[in-house]
Amino acid sequence: MTAPATADALGSRPETLAAGRILDRARELVAPALTDAVATLHPWIAEMAAYALGHGGTDTGGRGTEADSRGGKGVRQALALLGAELAGAPAACGVPAAVAVELVHTFSLVHDDIMDGDALRRGRPALWKAYGTGPAVLAGDALLALAVGTLSTAPEAARRLSAALDDLVRGQADDLLLARRPWTGPEAVTAGEYETMAERKTGALLGCALALGAQLGGVDERIVAALDRVGRHLGVAFQIVDDLLGIWGDPEVTGKPVHGDLREGKKTFPVLAALDGPYGPELAQLLGARDTAERAADLVARAGGRTAALREARRHLAAADALLDSVPCSPHAAGELRSLLSALTRRTV
Ligand code: IPE
Ligand code: MG
Ligand code: MG
Repeated sequence: MTAPATADALGSRPETLAAGRILDRARELVAPALTDAVATLHPWIAEMAAYALGHGGTDTGGRGTEADSRGGKGVRQALALLGAELAGAPAACGVPAAVAVELVHTFSLVHDDIMDGDALRRGRPALWKAYGTGPAVLAGDALLALAVGTLSTAPEAARRLSAALDDLVRGQADDLLLARRPWTGPEAVTAGEYETMAERKTGALLGCALALGAQLGGVDERIVAALDRVGRHLGVAFQIVDDLLGIWGDPEVTGKPVHGDLREGKKTFPVLAALDGPYGPELAQLLGARDTAERAADLVARAGGRTAALREARRHLAAADALLDSVPCSPHAAGELRSLLSALTRRTV
């Protein structure tokens, strides 16, 4: 098995099962093109790329078992296919966009784990832990170059992808800079700064996925731009849920380290919201100390940070939903996108 069973990733309620089917179908449709693209790389880089994508059943040196291999949910590739369908084109029209965004996403995670010092990804050693930092940087570079190459015959699409990459890099820069800022006082990070960072680091690529698919599907730029905004709202909601999972998720399920963000001083939404409340000063002290992540997490929950974060994620999803209402597009594809939107806030992975 090369990907988590979708029910595991999204839960087993009826509405999330529908989203699971959408993700599974996208994975099936995109996998051959993605595998072909990776096969064009230098063999060593191709091996690392396959590891990062969760393709194949081998660990470094072929020691692993099939159970070691866990792909991502494939949200971005599914959005690209839905983008094409929203435009009234067959899903297959969106495949080059799907390959490009999935490669960009994988590149960004490979480099992100190095930046964040995270040793675990999808339940296995992160690529830099498995192969070394230098090789992982290079594999990330190769994935990015491959992604751009995928769209070389569609210059408009390539331009959109490169604009999203520019935003993603800005978002990652903000993420690193905000982590250095204090929790309280005049230099404290605001909710607005958080949202800008999250929209860039996560929303830009989700928006790009939907927009690229629609662009390849042949709709006019106004609709493409509206779908980009839908994906950006989804991205902020997605990032807030990612923040929640980084504090209260089960590492067995998420496959990522728990409390990594707290230890690194990352400015996540639940913590920022909790700092605004009555426990603010006590929380700020815990956040500044060593080995207090567990206690800080409890205090964030007691201060309402978890509830506030969920509320904010739902607000962004509602905004995505309202925007989608205003876009003339295939009602069937819009229904599918809505199932995906609502399932993604309930995800546990
Ligand atoms: C990842 O952000 C965003 C990009 C890779 C562009 P995070 O650092 O918050 O994500 P995880 O928790 O490591 O997946
Ligand atoms: Mg990270
Ligand atoms: Mg990061």
